[in-house]
Amino acid sequence: MIDRSLFAMFRNNPNLTYLDNAATTYKPDSVIEAISHFYSHDYATVGRGIYQLSERATQRYEEVRAQVAEFIGAKANEIIFTRGATDGLNLVATAWGGSIISQGDEVVVTELEHHSNLIPWQQLCQQKGAKLRFIPVTDQGELDLTSLDQIINDRTKLVALSCASNVTGLPVEIDPVVRAARAVGACVVIDAAQFGPHHRIDVKRIDCDFLAISGHKMFGPMGIGVLYARESRHSQMAPYQFGGGMVFDANLEKATWLKAPHKFEAGTESVAQVIGLGATIDFMNKHINFDELARHEASLCARLIDGLSTIKSMKVLGNSKLLRQSGHLVSFYHDNIHPHDIAAQLDKYNIAVRAGHHCAQPLINRFGVSGTVRASFAIYNSLEEVDRLLEALTSIIG
Ligand SMILES: Cc1ncc(COP(=O)(O)O)c(C=O)c1O
Repeated sequence: MIDRSLFAMFRNNPNLTYLDNAATTYKPDSVIEAISHFYSHDYATVGRGIYQLSERATQRYEEVRAQVAEFIGAKANEIIFTRGATDGLNLVATAWGGSIISQGDEVVVTELEHHSNLIPWQQLCQQKGAKLRFIPVTDQGELDLTSLDQIINDRTKLVALSCASNVTGLPVEIDPVVRAARAVGACVVIDAAQFGPHHRIDVKRIDCDFLAISGHKMFGPMGIGVLYARESRHSQMAPYQFGGGMVFDANLEKATWLKAPHKFEAGTESVAQVIGLGATIDFMNKHINFDELARHEASLCARLIDGLSTIKSMKVLGNSKLLRQSGHLVSFYHDNIHPHDIAAQLDKYNIAVRAGHHCAQPLINRFGVSGTVRASFAIYNSLEEVDRLLEALTSIIG
């Protein structure tokens, strides 16, 4: 779907079949060049220096904020730069949850969450004496919404869920959950780490209060993420971290804070990564048509599912029909061979896949398996690579 020569990793590793995109994606040259250009021509900190280079870096940093805002349908002051999706979700748990959640309140997540969207809420509930509740998952890997009106009730203060699973690859039916949360006035947090690389994000359409994105999973640099924080929630949030860059005024005894988003960006900002993220959005705007991408990735899933069905004792996790229509990865397992052994064997064929519990142990336990092998796709993967994976699997398993 895209010219692979735009990516140095493919030029330098021409025989590699890279199918671990749900973990992290390769970077186009334009992103690497933007970072390199900043370090070699424009390098400075932002928001502090009274000299041209620093002013230019500050301007570029804020331009990227506006660019991200436009990309996801938000306002610039609603964009907080973070280290990644994990950092963004922890920020919400600490800054909003720490201020608002109290004893007896309820927080709702789903059984399919990545640890990054589970553990921060476990910790918050333990600290505050609040109750953590779970929307269950069906045998097909979809949300079981039959008891939603009991799980989300007038004690619910926050509902956090991801809009695409990093284990099953299935899109998550978030709309009924968001509506139920809205009906009781609960805060809605969306983990879009797996959704962002494959679909257009529109925070207004989703109707969420917070949404976390991971830069490195969508062709951007490592160490950068975005947290969308709805403006009307800013006044309910305490600072996440304290230090330089977030202070309005300080004396030896106390301090006051800048307004959001700077209130939440303490310390020297990750300017190079933000500039790389700006180049990433340019890349996505230029090269990605999300409808075509979804069709392409679903066709890769369908080919893989068809091939896996011919290999004895091999099973696909989740709703295969839905994966064929709108999946971006396939998780599979063998009745008698551990997923780590399959992945290690595939590595000998120069095929990179992820194996294990994918940082979603409760979901893996829910399915009663020890783990899965996960082949996850991006815009640069092809049907030929799926066939290569299937051939290797056939040779390994027989
Ligand atoms: C669904 C989901 N949420 C959150 C994360 C964490 O993202 P990050 O690496 O940006 O912290 C991941 C990473 O695998 C993920 O798949």
